Amino acid sequence: MSALLAVDDLARRYALRSSSWPWSRPLTLRAVDGVSFRIEQGKTLGLVGESGCGKSTTARLVLGLLPPSSGSVRFEDQPVSSRRDAQWRALRRRMQMVYQDPLGALDRRLTALEQVCEPLAVFGEGLPAERRERARELMASVGLPRHLFERYPHELSGGQRQRVVLARALILGPALLVCDEPVSALDVSVQAQVINLLQQIQQRDGVAFLFISHDLKVVRHVSHEVAVMYLGRIVEQGPPQELLSRPAHPYTQALVSAVPTPWRDKSAERIVLQGDPPNPLSAPAGCSFHPRCRQQAPALIDIGGGRKAACHLLASS
Ligand SMILES: Nc1ncnc2c1ncn2[C@@H]1O[C@H](COP(=O)(O)OP(=O)(O)O)[C@@H](O)[C@H]1O
Ligand SMILES: [Mg+2]
Repeated sequence: MSALLAVDDLARRYALRSSSWPWSRPLTLRAVDGVSFRIEQGKTLGLVGESGCGKSTTARLVLGLLPPSSGSVRFEDQPVSSRRDAQWRALRRRMQMVYQDPLGALDRRLTALEQVCEPLAVFGEGLPAERRERARELMASVGLPRHLFERYPHELSGGQRQRVVLARALILGPALLVCDEPVSALDVSVQAQVINLLQQIQQRDGVAFLFISHDLKVVRHVSHEVAVMYLGRIVEQGPPQELLSRPAHPYTQALVSAVPTPWRDKSAERIVLQGDPPNPLSAPAGCSFHPRCRQQAPALIDIGGGRKAACHLLASS
């Protein structure tokens, strides 16, 4: 069986001017640079990495909100294109987005109930009374009490707003929810509630998630598989348990060292990345992590044949 979502060698480049001079040479920013992954039906892929590494751009490419520079996205065995045609509309019913800022995602002029009914009206489903009934049922199932249904977004708390956003995203019965930092704007206690809710929704409806966060602590709870992104690329991917207990890439090791885990040695040192995050406009050649990889100068080691050389690659081989 093929995957629900198949992303292959996806890239998005931006041409930016290097200075304010009109004749300056444009520089290429590789926001997403050769990303591939699969998401199976009903499963969660967690995408984690620091701010600016390309997570939101990946989300927008997956949903066809942004055309890729190269590579492909297939959803339910159909190519996702960014052309706003009938096929795109049909696919968008099955793929929905949940943003970080629920207030920004909601229309301030509509009540909570109207927000949830709206997608049904846009797709011409059911009569108004039927739409309201479906919306009320769904809102109750995501933990919104009835007395909130007629409130406007600014009259709700952050957690309540995110529940409205979720109900709105779920009302058309999607197979995939792309959640871009869905709990980052919420208090820690509310974060846990929303994460539990997402897991319940997945168990109940079999929805798959692309769950994006800069926070590995959040991602490990919800994901069946975790992909670690650095400067537009996936540098490591695997089941969360494995990735947290035996991170292979030095960047993952640094991320993991900041997460308190019961199975890691308490005395294990926290790895603080040295050096600045690289400027994506002048990304380092070769391995993009190398400027922050190993700060100490490599030792001169014997490489046989009476020769010596100083290189980390030789030392680790
Ligand atoms: N429209 C755009 N034009 C130029 N650069 C962009 C644009 N959108 C995003 N970027 C750049 O692409 C990189 C990745 O951005 P983004 O996907 O938003 O990262 P993240 O969501 O991981 O914080 C950043 O360096 C950002 O500045
Ligand atoms: Mg982002």
